[in-house]
Amino acid sequence: MIFKSFQEDIDAFLARDPAARSRIEVVLCYPGFHALLFYRATNVLWRNNWHLLARFISMLSKILTAIEIHPGARIGRRFVIDHGIGVVIGETSDIGDDVTIYQGVTLGGVAPSIDSQSQVNQKRHPTLGNDVIIGAGAQILGPITIGDGARIGANSVVHKDIPAGVTAVGIPARVVMPRDKQKANQFVAYGEPVDGCPDPVLRTIEDLRHQVTALMGHVEELESRLEGGAAGNDKSSGGADGINEKTKAVAGSGNKP
Ligand SMILES: CC(C)(COP(=O)(O)OP(=O)(O)OC[C@H]1O[C@@H](n2cnc3c(N)ncnc32)[C@H](O)[C@@H]1OP(=O)(O)O)[C@@H](O)C(=O)NCCC(=O)NCCS
Repeated sequence: MIFKSFQEDIDAFLARDPAARSRIEVVLCYPGFHALLFYRATNVLWRNNWHLLARFISMLSKILTAIEIHPGARIGRRFVIDHGIGVVIGETSDIGDDVTIYQGVTLGGVAPSIDSQSQVNQKRHPTLGNDVIIGAGAQILGPITIGDGARIGANSVVHKDIPAGVTAVGIPARVVMPRDKQKANQFVAYGEPVDGCPDPVLRTIEDLRHQVTALMGHVEELESRLEGGAAGNDKSSGGADGINEKTKAVAGSGNKP
């Protein structure tokens, strides 16, 4: 069981780092893998209330790898820390399966130094879903949730929940585009965000797109009515032109939110 777990951890490095050539290379040359081995051991100690020993071994791991993982953090399967230097993972972090993070990433608290006592044993670090990628130098702060499959850009600062499947970048991080770009192009119901996307710009675009789609529907309906009644209306002066004018007026108001 333990051997299988190590093997899939090694294979995850091979699968996600184009520079990795063999399992033995991962075992010998990847500080992210070494830090993970130390973490798996210290986490067992931590869960069995050997807190001081766990912290001490964790500190040795930090000296060897330049990666700090608190033994109390919860980390899923096939976790990859690539390069790794400067990574800090706080005590109440919760990391899903198949997560990848790069050097300089912090999973930290928002203000650990302020009123520290009230924060003891409180959830104060992030939760990462499955298949999340956190770019180099990104700071993920607070008890927020990064949804399954989300990607966080290098050097971003994230302090709010990020929905599943989107890419978020910048300081503060904002969603730039759903990962599934096909889905982004699909029609989305009025006011309903893409993938729960909180980005106001993207939401406004979706709202406008909905309004244009609705107006086009009205125009088509009016045109078909017009064609249906064309024979009768031809005799009465201005009938068709009147409807056409109305149609244009409705279409012209389409960009009014
Ligand atoms: C965030 C990231 C995963 C985006 O990948 P993606 O989903 O393919 O998204 P795209 O490359 O299409 O970028 C989407 C938009 O975000 C912008 N963007 C991407 N990464 C950004 C970053 N770190 N900071 C600011 N903006 C960024 C792009 O310019 C693009 O903007 P545009 O639509 O206006 O052109 C990737 O850019 C990234 O930062 N990866 C981290 C990799 C890393 O840390 N490598 C270190 C290895 S040693």
